[in-house]
Amino acid sequence: MLKDPIEAPAAKTSRSKPSRSRHHFVIAALRSPMKIGGFLPSSRGLARAMAAGVDLKRPGHVVELGAGTGVVTHALLQAHVPAERLVVLERDERLHEIICGHFPQLNVLQADAIELDTVLEKIGVTKVCAVVSSLPFLVMPEPVRNAIQAQMAKVIGDNGVIVQFTYGPKSPILPAQMKALHLEGKRMKLVIGNVPPAHVWLYSRIKA
Ligand SMILES: C[S@@+](CC[C@H](N)C(=O)[O-])C[C@H]1O[C@@H](n2cnc3c(N)ncnc32)[C@H](O)[C@@H]1O
Repeated sequence: MLKDPIEAPAAKTSRSKPSRSRHHFVIAALRSPMKIGGFLPSSRGLARAMAAGVDLKRPGHVVELGAGTGVVTHALLQAHVPAERLVVLERDERLHEIICGHFPQLNVLQADAIELDTVLEKIGVTKVCAVVSSLPFLVMPEPVRNAIQAQMAKVIGDNGVIVQFTYGPKSPILPAQMKALHLEGKRMKLVIGNVPPAHVWLYSRIKA
């Protein structure tokens, strides 16, 4: 059984790794709320709902964007995503360090999702079966959001999917952007137990 980076019980005598991770997440969020996009890591229920969107029968890598403290990363591994098929991106330096510490077996990159195709090309990833994203699109400037979503749509090719959660009521990829990127989307799940409640969306290429 993998050790959960967030939810494992705290040690009695000193601050445990999970509580340190949460502490660093909260500090990062307070320092740059518009960059982190939330004040608490996702719940295990939300992380599991995200991982459920991945179909490992499709060929290619699973790419996680905005890993934070690694709660979704952990759920992906629990859902049997092989370590060698998982690539994790986190832009924040301290959170990146934390993820590397929790998951030494994984390819964890400190990078901006806006450069996703270049980053994947550099490490030789040519096929992606799923992009699993916790990126905070609700707080991003529109041009940045659109550019990142275009990158996500590009790397999944014709057969991959995008899994994205949002705290908002609407699709985090807006209808006009979905149309421009030839994507269709559906709401997979509402996770009421998350704080705040979150919707998980699944996008795939419109078939001709
Ligand atoms: C709402 S938090 C989610 C963290 C974690 N996946 C979870 O569910 O608890 C969003 C994360 O995305 C990262 N992030 C934001 N913009 C990014 C970008 N352009 N490229 C890569 N990571 C980014 C933030 O640093 C933060 O860790």
